[in-house]
Amino acid sequence: MILGIETSCDETSVALLARDGSVRTNLIASQIERHRPFGGVVPEIASREHLQHLFPLVKRAIADAGVAWEDIEAVAVTSAPGLIGALLVGVAGAQGLAYGLGIPLISVNHLEGHMFSPYLQKEGPSIPLPGRFLSLVISGGHSSIYDIWMPEGAPLVTMLNRTRDDAIGETFDKVAKFIGLPYPGGPQIEKRAQGGTADAKRFPFPLPQFKDDSIDFSYSGVKAAAIRFARANDIRVEGDAALMSDFCATFQDALFAQLFNRLESAWERLEEPRPSEIAIAGGVAANGVLRERIAVWGARRGVVVRLPEKEYCTDNAAMIAFAGLQREADATDPKRVVARSRIR
Ligand code: KG4
Ligand code: ZN
Repeated sequence: MILGIETSCDETSVALLARDGSVRTNLIASQIERHRPFGGVVPEIASREHLQHLFPLVKRAIADAGVAWEDIEAVAVTSAPGLIGALLVGVAGAQGLAYGLGIPLISVNHLEGHMFSPYLQKEGPSIPLPGRFLSLVISGGHSSIYDIWMPEGAPLVTMLNRTRDDAIGETFDKVAKFIGLPYPGGPQIEKRAQGGTADAKRFPFPLPQFKDDSIDFSYSGVKAAAIRFARANDIRVEGDAALMSDFCATFQDALFAQLFNRLESAWERLEEPRPSEIAIAGGVAANGVLRERIAVWGARRGVVVRLPEKEYCTDNAAMIAFAGLQREADATDPKRVVARSRIR
């Protein structure tokens, strides 16, 4: 049994995962309500909330899963990237637990947690990991495509692109905030977009292209255009609902158009044989429109599409324990694990 701990942002989460990848319990204390008045995550509040919730959650997880302390063989904790004060609470807590129990500590990169999350199931063991897969991590802080090889030992991860400015989820959140929708903005925009007509003539959002033939994402142009249109057309929560729906549908469409444009380029640049599976992860992977489109994309290319259960899309400790399991060979003495806000 692996104990997973996640405190990198605004969710305190503790999970227990069996070696076959079955999730025994995955508890999440969300702080969304505490941060909502500020329209975004306040780091200081996040750290204090983690401190308050972490150990009660650990105790509850043990009780819920009906396991004994002795059954825990390792602790896996998110050590980077994220809010440094928030990470420190989780890492310090995990170090204390690992020390106390005399077991190793596995340092987990939060993004790897997301990458493997589509292979976790609600019930039963995890889906067997393929020898190689593409991963699309799309969240509030990240937008990247990765090429992942699974040799014996530890995974080999190559980043194929990244965002040059805003992340896709961040773009949803910032534009939502501007038009008066509550945080987090992604699900709010998705809801308002239902029934709307994506009309690119009325709201022409840019598809950025770089001179150097890079396939990086860049969402700041879409964000700026969205805010400009919203201001010019008086798109606000209190305003015309039909106009709001059309705007949200077009905006969401523009974000996903860029996503698929980059995915297509990344795919074409890979040499044969290409990966047999694509796994979509991160908070934005909860979006229904995206889930439908990626299924179509995969079917057209004969690629198996893996989508995370909604519970495993947003930050959770089950995915951290699962990524820890893949990296067990790197488990160390607890005091050697260091929290870092950035990866490099
Ligand atoms: O992975 P996550 O919980 O936290 C980060 O590590 O960032 O992702 C949160 C992000 C937020 O930006 C939120 O607006 C977005 O995921 N999100 C969505 C949806 N649900 C959450 N974006 C679009 N559509 C959704 N249904
Ligand atoms: Zn995340």
